[in-house]
Amino acid sequence: MKTEWQAVEEAAQAAQASALVSKFDEEKSRLQRLTFDVADMHFDLSRTHLDIGVVDAFLALAKQTDFQGLRARLLSGDTVNPTEGRAASHTAERGMGAEADVHAADEARRQMRALYDRIEGGAFGDVRHIIHIGIGGSFLGPALVIDALLPKEPRYDVQIVSNIDARALERALMHVDRTRTLIVTASKSFTTLETMMNTESALKALGQDAKSRLIAVTAAPDKATEFGVDAANVLPFAETVGGRYSLWTGVGLAAALALGWEEYEALLSGAAAMDRHFADADLTENVPFVAACMDLLYASVIGAETRAVFAYDERLALLPPFLQQLETESNGKRVDRDGETLERGSAPVVWGGVGTDAQHAVFQMLHQGTHLIPTEFLAVKEPGHSIGGDHHAQLLANCIAQGAALLRGRSFEEAKAKGADDALAHAKTFPGDKPSSTILLDRLDARTLGALLSFYEHRTFAFGALLGINSFDQMGVELGKDVARAIADGDLGDLDPSSRDLLTRVGL
Ligand code: F6P
Repeated sequence: MKTEWQAVEEAAQAAQASALVSKFDEEKSRLQRLTFDVADMHFDLSRTHLDIGVVDAFLALAKQTDFQGLRARLLSGDTVNPTEGRAASHTAERGMGAEADVHAADEARRQMRALYDRIEGGAFGDVRHIIHIGIGGSFLGPALVIDALLPKEPRYDVQIVSNIDARALERALMHVDRTRTLIVTASKSFTTLETMMNTESALKALGQDAKSRLIAVTAAPDKATEFGVDAANVLPFAETVGGRYSLWTGVGLAAALALGWEEYEALLSGAAAMDRHFADADLTENVPFVAACMDLLYASVIGAETRAVFAYDERLALLPPFLQQLETESNGKRVDRDGETLERGSAPVVWGGVGTDAQHAVFQMLHQGTHLIPTEFLAVKEPGHSIGGDHHAQLLANCIAQGAALLRGRSFEEAKAKGADDALAHAKTFPGDKPSSTILLDRLDARTLGALLSFYEHRTFAFGALLGINSFDQMGVELGKDVARAIADGDLGDLDPSSRDLLTRVGL
């Protein structure tokens, strides 16, 4: 009997039989069926190999894998992370989850608000600067949100430090008035090497009383108080919130301070709107689900090893690195939930940049290179500046043009007709037929950004659920940490000759 995956493979093969551009003629309702309007965003997945056959095959796979059951478990606070034996309760931070989780999240938010009010009220002096210290999920979300939404006249100067390379801390310190600086250390575990070392060095650099202006955001409050943080300055959050999903907890404190509390709440309410869509919309209309089918189609069936994301908006410049962690740390796995080796590819390499800059760097490869690179474009209808002129019209036109050019290409004959000889015409030929998706935001504000990030979270979950993997652990980051620890302890054990030689060269 044909398995559900075999049916997906057959549907994918059929979908690749005709050129993408001709699909609009073959399926008259294509644009309407593969575009979605949710939470003030327009999602266009029509310039891809998704078609009725492919979506139907994924719907059958969803049934066989009990996708809806797993989604219900996620959204009601049941265990969805079997290797760590716990739930993934980030949606509870936005009001959807087990009653106890939502209650705990509300309580933590009240504490966060109280601390926010103390900071604003001068309990830590006349704070002008915040150094947010954290790495991975304790860094990428806040950095993206602050960069995307920072008003022209920021409420605070926020410096974000993640790397253990102290050059990052040194740069941050150059910007701050040391006596008016608050340190926010965000670490779920409160043991992460980079974050602890940066916090210690920052305290040293800021001087004697800096510890009184240290705030800890963590799922391990005891460790924070042991470290010397005043218990009143510790914001706890639940162990069940994964690091890369922790923006919605007190990890967002620096963002809340930088943007203002109302904006922070709008971010959460935007995320909640997308949660409701993901929970309630029929699967054929469910944009995180359909986008996950598209991702699986390319990464796990057709075999595209990468996925590119280009934000045609400076404000979203940090979206690609955020997605890199979200998608690859969640779904870059080699075994399924039962520990069986996967038979197909998992998370693609996620990379990208901003348009139009990237057009003058990597787009050559997108248009004429030999890799299949499903590409995602993001753009915002309203500009993020008041300079006026043609800037925004040009930006949007370029964004839409790139997708159109990837789709249609330029034939050899067309290149020749422009007067080129054969060799030159070959060099000027664009094969086209390259898939892209587009997300068009009505505006970029806290609410739409919250909804966008929630969309990506659920898309990532749906990808893992359909593939049968656990999207909520990250065992793959451990081995390198163990080896680094052993080296630091002088235990070179069975280290290979190349590593030993390199260590000698750097004097270790
Ligand atoms: O090393 C990976 C990781 O555990 C990420 O998942 C996490 O976001 C990051 O490290 C930081 O961890 P923590 O918040 O515990 O400092």
